Amino acid sequence: MLNNELISKIESGSHNGEGRECKYFRLNEREGLKTFVYEEHRDHCFDMQTHCRRFGLAPMVGDTADIPTVHGLLYGYTTEHLQTCLEIMNECDKNEEPYPENIHYTRREGLTNVYAEHGLNWTDTCTFNIGVFPSGELCAIDFGDVRFVDDPGVESNSGWDSDSRLR
Ligand SMILES: Nc1ncnc2c1ncn2[C@@H]1O[C@H](COP(=O)(O)OP(=O)(O)OP(=O)(O)O)[C@@H](O)[C@H]1O
Ligand SMILES: [Mg+2]
Repeated sequence: MLNNELISKIESGSHNGEGRECKYFRLNEREGLKTFVYEEHRDHCFDMQTHCRRFGLAPMVGDTADIPTVHGLLYGYTTEHLQTCLEIMNECDKNEEPYPENIHYTRREGLTNVYAEHGLNWTDTCTFNIGVFPSGELCAIDFGDVRFVDDPGVESNSGWDSDSRLR
């Protein structure tokens, strides 16, 4: 996965999405790579995405990778690529079409309750933090602020399946 072409892309900063902690690089049709400056941010997001995936509340998760770059070591993991709500809305705006019913505000805000039903606190429901599965179902794609309701600390990653395929 970590070939020279990808490392050059990361080093040149030509990402396909950026937040406060993560830069996102599209790998192919199906997958992307999330990169973080801090190992604990990567580990937290990887662990929470892996946990949420068990309930279908996250894109599929791949493997972690520590990425040597000229700017220092970055910490990453691969993920299933999903369209974001923001991208769908931008596309509709461009074509002067109404937004599809599944991405309306009430649906997006209602997602917080779906995570709460699974013991998870997630309120950062911005349109660029929500992915849309091909089925139209919504889920978080940004796990930086997802926490267990009972445990505000970071969970360890021990015990997860180390299979290299997306799961
Ligand atoms: N699984 C994914 N599929 C498609 N795009 C993604 C995925 N994960 C992240 N992205 C893109 O990368 C951007 C940054 O990722 P993410 O939201 O996880 O970073 P962050 O630094 O935690 O963001 P924030 O500033 O909201 O805390 C997203 O807004 C989105 O555009
Ligand atoms: Mg984000």
